[in-house]
Amino acid sequence: MKKTAKAPSNIAFIKYWGKKDPSLNLPMNDSVSMNLSGCSTLTTVEFNSKFKKDRLILAGQEVFDKKLEKVSKHLDLVRKLARKNLRAKVTSKNNFPTGVGIASSASGFAALTLAAVSALGLKLSEKELSVLARLGSGSACRSIPDGFVNWHKGQNSQTSFAESIAPPSYWNLADIVVILQDVEKEISSRDGHALAQTSPYYKTRLSELGTRTKDVEDAIKKKDLEKLGTLIEEEAISLHMVAMTSKPPLFYWKPETLLLMQNLMAWRKEGLPAYFTIDAGPNIHIITEDKYEDKVTRKLKQLGFPKQTITNHPSEGARIVD
Ligand code: PMV
Repeated sequence: MKKTAKAPSNIAFIKYWGKKDPSLNLPMNDSVSMNLSGCSTLTTVEFNSKFKKDRLILAGQEVFDKKLEKVSKHLDLVRKLARKNLRAKVTSKNNFPTGVGIASSASGFAALTLAAVSALGLKLSEKELSVLARLGSGSACRSIPDGFVNWHKGQNSQTSFAESIAPPSYWNLADIVVILQDVEKEISSRDGHALAQTSPYYKTRLSELGTRTKDVEDAIKKKDLEKLGTLIEEEAISLHMVAMTSKPPLFYWKPETLLLMQNLMAWRKEGLPAYFTIDAGPNIHIITEDKYEDKVTRKLKQLGFPKQTITNHPSEGARIVD
């Protein structure tokens, strides 16, 4: 009754921002993402009738706080499905640095879901796994299928899940994450989701998303980097405009965030096709094709960005590894 699963984190090209039903993590809009080869979580779940309570070991350290509570709550859903009332020991680690503003909830809940379900011997479809992962953390549902993914917002819990729109090998994109902070995220995405509707621009954002989402899918299908890049920048700015005009306002950017955005725009004028997207934090994800990776890395060094970068390519979704 012990299984290990590995799941990638993902970067959203069209972002999930605002919930229709917070208790079920039902989103207000469809989103589109790419799974990341360089940022993943490895999780082992062991159920045992001898265990008295759930335990959680993160990066070698036992934790007892809200994180354990969330994991236990998620395991309850799996126990209920399997009709087995066994406690578990969960051991988990990320292959990327924690506390630098890269969310681990997507890879974390995708890996936890797959490992727990498999450890209890449940046979679930990819869609059912995605639904279950979504209940742990919304964006985790996109880390279940392979490669490039669409999360259908759906009408209810059973119809809100993610599916692959192209395999990882379809397009040799690169995502170079530039880490611009080395402290834990100050404002959680949970606060952002909850406040989204207080922005006067949220309605405008939603009204634009139908067309933008179709266009992003079309850009992926045609492997059109310029089209995709233009759209993802527009999308990231739209999310952050909503965040900055929420009540109270949420500012995720640091001065270096804007500096790098402006530099990317300048690099494009010099013929280097590299574009930005930004999640609920200050870090920049530079989206380009792998043939431009070295040039981007050189430019970053010239700019004197001393902090870490993580280079990712499109990756498969969650997998059992033992
Ligand atoms: O899954 P959550 O609740 O951490 O929300 C993710 C929010 C963003 O990363 C900003 C956007 C996205 O779609 O991943």
